[in-house]
Amino acid sequence: MSKKTLRVSKIKNGTVIDHINGGHALDVVKILGITGSTSGVISIGINVPSKRLGIKDIVKVEGRELDPSEVDKIALLAPHATINIIKDYKVVEKKRVKLPDTVTGVIKCGNPACISNSSEPVQSKFYVEKEEPLRLKCHYCGHVMEKGDVLKQF
Ligand code: CTP
Ligand code: ZN
Repeated sequence: MSKKTLRVSKIKNGTVIDHINGGHALDVVKILGITGSTSGVISIGINVPSKRLGIKDIVKVEGRELDPSEVDKIALLAPHATINIIKDYKVVEKKRVKLPDTVTGVIKCGNPACISNSSEPVQSKFYVEKEEPLRLKCHYCGHVMEKGDVLKQF
């Protein structure tokens, strides 16, 4: 990215979540639990021009890495994102987020009568029927979850 098109400045240490589908940056912010009272510098780019995606969103979180459960959640709403770990201004690790065929233990089934919501020790499990727009089907009860249902849980 040339200096001319760099809209959000580089960071020294932290995590850059790049190639988020246009319009989804605020979903990612919500997943990370960032609110007005969060400390640390967060930069958000929305509808930034991108060669690969046309437009993309970017979220830069300074001073911390993401934990695996946050990455699993991001995969649901931004399945093409790239997660870059930055140390001393350099990209030391780059990984593509991947939405697996089945999503286990990340979100709750929206059907209160589902066995995964009972006192039985059964973890939720969904089949990814569609990535965009998101469509998940519960392995146990067939209940279908869409993006809005998922976001409500984050
Ligand atoms: N970045 C940053 N601060 C740094 C280094 C990189 O904010 N100190 C950001 C860049 O702006 C970019 C992302 O991290 O959004 C990945 O950086 P880099 O791998 O250098 O960019 P690209 O080669 O364009 O990445 P890709 O191949 O994933 O498109
Ligand atoms: Zn269910």
